[in-house]
Amino acid sequence: MTQTSVERGRGDLRLASLTKSFGSFTAVEPMDLTVPQGSFFALLGPSGCGKTTTLRMIAGLEAPTAGSIHIGDQEITATKAHQRNVNTVFQSYALFPHMTVLDNVMFGLKRRGDKDARRKALEALELVQLEGLGGRKPSQLSGGMQQRVALARALVNRPDVLLLDEPLGALDLKLRRQMQIELKRIQQEVGLTFIHVTHDQEEAMTMADSIAVMNEGRIEQLGDPATLYEQPESTFVANFLGQSNLLRAKVVPGSGREGITLVRSHDADLEVVEDHVPQGVTDVWLGVRPEKLRLGESGGPNRLRGTIRDVSFSGVATQYMVAMPWGRELTVVQQNDGSARAALGEQVTLSWAAEHGFALDASQDAEAGAMVEDDV
Ligand SMILES: Nc1ncnc2c1ncn2[C@@H]1O[C@H](COP(=O)(O)OP(=O)(O)O)[C@@H](O)[C@H]1O
Ligand SMILES: [Mg+2]
Repeated sequence: MTQTSVERGRGDLRLASLTKSFGSFTAVEPMDLTVPQGSFFALLGPSGCGKTTTLRMIAGLEAPTAGSIHIGDQEITATKAHQRNVNTVFQSYALFPHMTVLDNVMFGLKRRGDKDARRKALEALELVQLEGLGGRKPSQLSGGMQQRVALARALVNRPDVLLLDEPLGALDLKLRRQMQIELKRIQQEVGLTFIHVTHDQEEAMTMADSIAVMNEGRIEQLGDPATLYEQPESTFVANFLGQSNLLRAKVVPGSGREGITLVRSHDADLEVVEDHVPQGVTDVWLGVRPEKLRLGESGGPNRLRGTIRDVSFSGVATQYMVAMPWGRELTVVQQNDGSARAALGEQVTLSWAAEHGFALDASQDAEAGAMVEDDV
């Protein structure tokens, strides 16, 4: 992606060949990335892939080994942390325990002699829905509320970029889901650039306008949540974002309908839209998401036969494991929308549409990104 300086937004964050090595180990490989001003951006990847190191370089807490950081036209690569207009919210709230909530939020503004400190702090508390609680001590608030205070304290500074490093990691699942929606609302309301680091793919997809999926110090793929999910470009992304069934296949050259590529997998000819097939590759993994597979013939032109080996009902959906003649199982997820359910041992047809598949270069490990730990 190239942009001229005219097209470039005035406050975009730009990383150019940003690199961090610790001794002989490179935690962040040369990274080029533009985060548009005012966007909600997620850095997503498994533990240890370099997310925090990237954030720490942007915050000025870690000196890059090479490369540069700009916000708009201003280079901040060597600027001291406290002189950057960048704030960070961590998983631990790091509030001053002896101060009231309001004093915590006002602290930075008052130190800089801002005469409007009190009004701005009260506004920030209102934004995070803690109005009326400014007189309390942090210890009198729940974890979720303390996290809101930390957020308000960062927001009052109106940073060019707000960095959030796994900020919801300490909250239980229900509260985390609530806060995801809240954070998104707050970001839309204030219009600041948020960079949210998480290892939780669902969290990244729920909240972000764009996601950079990181693996071993590199960005594997960058895009909006739907594109990353529907058209992953590597097995890592296909497995890390949701679940994928990957079938070994060979491209059949020049045989498809208009806009369609034909691939042959386990003696079946299967259609994939051309745009979802990498150029110049013959051996591929054909990927299909579990919810795109239909039990029965109604899902599309692609058909395979298998036997139901496991049925697990989870309320909104049922997951089936379907044994295929070549010894692998495919995962099928069907919404519980009242249509007939299949029984254990039943022979079924699986069908899907050409636009619901994607092909990936078969030289990659089919297991990449699967089974990575789902908690830090
Ligand atoms: N100060 C440091 N010294 C040596 N290695 C480090 C240091 N900080 C981070 N690392 C290593 O860099 C890699 C990336 O770490 P980090 O950025 O914290 O990952 P993430 O936030 O994605 O979990 C890890 O292998 C980690 O052990
Ligand atoms: Mg981290």
